[in-house]
Amino acid sequence: MPLKLFSEEKSSGAKHVIAIAAGKGGVGKSSVTVNLARALSRLGLTVGVMDTDIYGPSIRKMLPEDQLPQQKGNILIPAVSDGIKMISMAYFRKEHEAAAIRAPIANGIITQFIKSVEWGPLDFLLIDFPPGTGDVQLTLSQQANLSGAIMVTTPQEVAVMDVRKAMNLFEQVKVPFLGIIENMSYFQAPNSQERHYLFGKGGGERLARDYGVPFLGSIPIDPKICQCGDSGQSLFADGDMSPGAADFLKVANNVVSHAAAMKKASQDVLKEFELVWKQL
Ligand SMILES: Nc1ncnc2c1ncn2[C@@H]1O[C@H](COP(=O)(O)OP(=O)(O)OP(=O)(O)O)[C@@H](O)[C@H]1O
Ligand SMILES: [Mg+2]
Repeated sequence: MPLKLFSEEKSSGAKHVIAIAAGKGGVGKSSVTVNLARALSRLGLTVGVMDTDIYGPSIRKMLPEDQLPQQKGNILIPAVSDGIKMISMAYFRKEHEAAAIRAPIANGIITQFIKSVEWGPLDFLLIDFPPGTGDVQLTLSQQANLSGAIMVTTPQEVAVMDVRKAMNLFEQVKVPFLGIIENMSYFQAPNSQERHYLFGKGGGERLARDYGVPFLGSIPIDPKICQCGDSGQSLFADGDMSPGAADFLKVANNVVSHAAAMKKASQDVLKEFELVWKQL
């Protein structure tokens, strides 16, 4: 009897469900999530963003909605911003209210996000992970049908050290790595050729080599990334692209090709499995 394995179907309806994670807070996970989402969208792909930071959701500010989310019975319809679908805890509590939420409740909210959001067909669902390796991260890694994880780090040794711990969590739950993005790699003043490596040099590439995973690219320190994050404007809004915007497009292209290769590899494994089964 042939065994049917469903490699295409994810509960979210997304072709690729990607965790954007880091070890340390503040290395730029949310900025990377939003700008990667915008860059993928610019490449003509359909993108959703899930902000899983229960205690300090920042994505809504960076990606302000044109359309609010809606609740229809047990189903959540995501917000839409510049064509990007988005769900965040920011919609479910008052702004500025301190979020005193115990871990089991946080887990319940995350499970709700995983199971109840009707994303519709998506090419990429990017999940902005909270920093570290706690309960919520574990729930997400086990339940969100992740295709892979992108690890974000700065070049600094302490950030790289912490990212290794977060990578161990993904390894334990058998989530493959799509690759590493190094953020805040260097600063280059306008009209200057000189790059200043403020947080050290090459930490992200070394990490990628050590783990044998793709290096997806580096993003410089770019004041426009900071300004756009605060104002909710698109980094790609004007034709004159900043260095950060140009590098995000390169990273997005790398993400597309590595995600396709990863999917093909996992489908090949499934085909092989089916062959062996039929032979029995
Ligand atoms: N490449 C960059 N150039 C300039 N500023 C940046 C860059 N990346 C991030 N930032 C800024 O650094 C700060 C932290 O970034 P962000 O909020 O994306 O980090 P995070 O890892 O999501 O933080 P948290 O752990 O709190 O969720 C923000 O003010 C953001 O605008
Ligand atoms: Mg964040």
